[in-house]
Amino acid sequence: MTETVCFKNIGQLIQTDVSADGQPRLKFSNHSALLVKNGRIESVVPSSGLKSSDYSKTVDLKGKTVIPGFVDCHTHLIYAGERKEEMEQRLDGSSYEDIFKNGGGILNTVHATRKADAQSLFVTARTRMRRMMALGTTAFEIKSGYGLDLSTEKKMLRVGRRLKDALQIPVTLTYLGAHAVPQGATRSQYFNFVMEHLPEFRDLADGVDIFCDRVAFKAQDLKRLFLHAKLVGFSQLRAHVEELSHQGACAEAARLGAHSCDHLEHASPNDIRAMKHAGTVAVLMPGVTFFLGEEKIPLVHSMIDAGVTLALATDCNPGSSPTYNMQTVLNLACHLYRITPEQALIAATYGSAKALIGHTEYGSLKPGQRADFLALKTSDYRDLFYYFGENFVESTYIAGRPVRTAKNPATE
Ligand code: NIG
Ligand code: FE
Repeated sequence: MTETVCFKNIGQLIQTDVSADGQPRLKFSNHSALLVKNGRIESVVPSSGLKSSDYSKTVDLKGKTVIPGFVDCHTHLIYAGERKEEMEQRLDGSSYEDIFKNGGGILNTVHATRKADAQSLFVTARTRMRRMMALGTTAFEIKSGYGLDLSTEKKMLRVGRRLKDALQIPVTLTYLGAHAVPQGATRSQYFNFVMEHLPEFRDLADGVDIFCDRVAFKAQDLKRLFLHAKLVGFSQLRAHVEELSHQGACAEAARLGAHSCDHLEHASPNDIRAMKHAGTVAVLMPGVTFFLGEEKIPLVHSMIDAGVTLALATDCNPGSSPTYNMQTVLNLACHLYRITPEQALIAATYGSAKALIGHTEYGSLKPGQRADFLALKTSDYRDLFYYFGENFVESTYIAGRPVRTAKNPATE
């Protein structure tokens, strides 16, 4: 589409601007229009200043509030099977860690995902992504990590590539071979295997990830993995760190130039300083805090005070955060972590984009960026944070095109 499309009659447009102090802030414009060409924002104009010669097609947004699309920068959305019996065990007193140690948890999903063929993984993950898009997500990160063998890890990443092509949406792919130790191997045997085969994943993934905790890998493994990944040519380094206990992996990851450190429930003031120093994004996932009933809350206000960029993500996975809904994540972030709607919205758009490849392309609705935006059902964006359990996304636009939804069969 080379024509210029005018999205007119926007009641309130919310963009993100970086202010003089270097901090991102929401910018509100009332009664404006977005001019979009080739899927990108050309300009934002006040409704009163619109000239019909500037565009060839119009979409009337009927006074709706428009916000940037959500960027889900941490998901495990390619998997087979569910883990409802583990949820019941946890509600009956078992811990996530105990279930994991007894061969359940991640290994349960590994078993199901190894058995599933690529086509069924593709179809189930595509359904999940379509639901997530209808709920407002316009860019994704997707990890492997439910194979823990070469063929299944590669199968997952190839499915990720197919999803990216099929849905025509920004997707960053991450190799998470170091997610758990498979049955029949010791930690060091399996980790050496991951290291040996890392180059085979270079063309299948944009980055690497590792889960460091008592039940998984150690900070020293992270160091070896990251150094090797840099040599092999991976452009993105991310890590699951300080989730169930403090392991010292966050500071190590930041020191080695991690793009993001994720979870961070047990991260210390020293870790926060390391992330600030390195420009590492702190990815918070309140869906996990909620679903696992975690008592430890990340030191979110120390992160904000230190000037660390915050991001929010679903962590969509069948064990610790079975949600497709970034709106739920934003709402939980405010009420579990006591942050403001403005801080949460910035984290889920601008902040999450910063953790991913091509982050300057989306996340703020600035001219030149992709026209990935949401028209809300409400005139007050704070309703997203006030009412919980509602869906406030009327329609999702990706590169200026409406996302197909079951509610809108004309575009199916
Ligand atoms: O991000 N913490 C480790 N990995 C995932 C959980 C995956 C699972 O339980 O299946 C997470 O929470
Ligand atoms: Fe995760």
